[in-house]
Amino acid sequence: MNKISVLFVCLGNICRSPTAHAVFQSMVDSEGLSQQIIVDSAGTGDWHLGHAPDQRTSAVAAERGYDMSELRSRLVEAEDFNQFDYIIAMDSDNLSNLHAMRPESYNGQLGLFLDYSQQNEQTEVPDPYYGGDNGFALVLDLVEEASTGLLAHIRGNSPELNDSLEPDNSPELYDSPELDNSPESPSL
Ligand code: 4NP
Repeated sequence: MNKISVLFVCLGNICRSPTAHAVFQSMVDSEGLSQQIIVDSAGTGDWHLGHAPDQRTSAVAAERGYDMSELRSRLVEAEDFNQFDYIIAMDSDNLSNLHAMRPESYNGQLGLFLDYSQQNEQTEVPDPYYGGDNGFALVLDLVEEASTGLLAHIRGNSPELNDSLEPDNSPELYDSPELDNSPESPSL
């Protein structure tokens, strides 16, 4: 089957979009979908190219078990519109920048991350960079919630995903002790 690819985008690619990258990747991995769904992140601003995520971001993420140590900031590129089925912005400024880059031929899904969220109070993931430490935990709360909604959306649009679970996650349909031990079971 074709792989599904998801790119998360914010401004600096050191706080919000790498958080989304790490959380959504963890969810994809734990659901046995890492061969089917590709996850990446990028920024619209170039101040932090090649940098690891902001330490405040990675510290809050580590408290909830997310590892961001491999992630490095990169810019969104024109080529991303050829590569990614979903290009997902953290806020409306990021989305405007992406719309300006979007080639007419792009037929993937370009939108706001929190449109996949169940909560209705916030429509954007707020930029935590110049705020206090609480902002980083709020980003993580919003990202975890929207990631669940995004994965449900992708599953709903891609029924083939539901047929392609990796072996460890397959239900053990024939693991019935009654059947296995029954003296009446015919030996074929
Ligand atoms: P992000 O946060 O877009 O969530 O990565 C920011 C990081 C850096 C800057 C702004 C926002 N900055 O101005 O350097």
